[in-house]
Amino acid sequence: MKKIRIAIDGPAAAGKSTVAKIIAEKLSYIYIDTGAMYRSLTYKAIKNQVDLDNENALADLLLNTDIKLMASENGQLVFVDGTNVTNQIRGSEVTNSVSIVSKYRSVREEMVRRQKDLAKDGGIVMDGRDIGTHVIPDAELKIFLLASVDERAERRHAENISKGFPSDINKLKEEIELRDKLDSEREVAPLRKAADAIELDTTSLNINEVVDNIMHLVHERIGMA
Ligand code: CDP
Ligand code: CDP
Repeated sequence: MKKIRIAIDGPAAAGKSTVAKIIAEKLSYIYIDTGAMYRSLTYKAIKNQVDLDNENALADLLLNTDIKLMASENGQLVFVDGTNVTNQIRGSEVTNSVSIVSKYRSVREEMVRRQKDLAKDGGIVMDGRDIGTHVIPDAELKIFLLASVDERAERRHAENISKGFPSDINKLKEEIELRDKLDSEREVAPLRKAADAIELDTTSLNINEVVDNIMHLVHERIGMA
């Protein structure tokens, strides 16, 4: 059976990574969370006190940064220069700075170069903001996941509570709205639905329903491929 490439894009906390991971498992495909790559660079930049307004310094830092994503029984692990930073890259400092780092052309060019290389053999589910538009513009299946901002804030809130993290739903909503705005309005590869992507509003869908919808499309595409 031909191994296809599946691009999943959408705004913050729409369910991209949860759904992408399950679909990759079902198909025995590789899953790549490109947001984790931008978060990794942001984490290292903050740790090394690199000025986030300095594009050249961030681009240089990236050239000297090894980012590895690895599947494990407990979900995807993220390593920066050999150190496991899976939890650290989800912290609020990184979350609230990542859209600054990801807006720079030279940073994005290197990230996209690495992502295209990861996707070149097919059999991949990749999620992010520009996968269908820039990273794999010829992906066999493109999905644009949406959900209302209230629902997305609610989901992140529930996730925080379940992990025992402090959580303020109003603050989460504000942070999500700001990040969506920065990601959608940046000049380089803004968050956009690709013209040929299938839009799926998940506001009233649970995870299984979203996965079932996408798997149906996958089977159609594999049949076509
Ligand atoms: O999981 P969540 O939706 O909170 O975000 P993420 O997927 O981890 O992405 C974090 C940030 O990285 C986004 O807000 C974007 O600024 C940036 N990003 C991007 O610019 N392009 C991508 N392909 C993926 C993420
Ligand atoms: O990757 P992205 O930021 O788009 O979202 P996520 O981290 O996969 O999902 C955010 C939260 O919403 C997670 O806790 C998911 O379990 C939850 N979720 C949900 O409740 N219903 C869905 N249909 C999709 C995700």
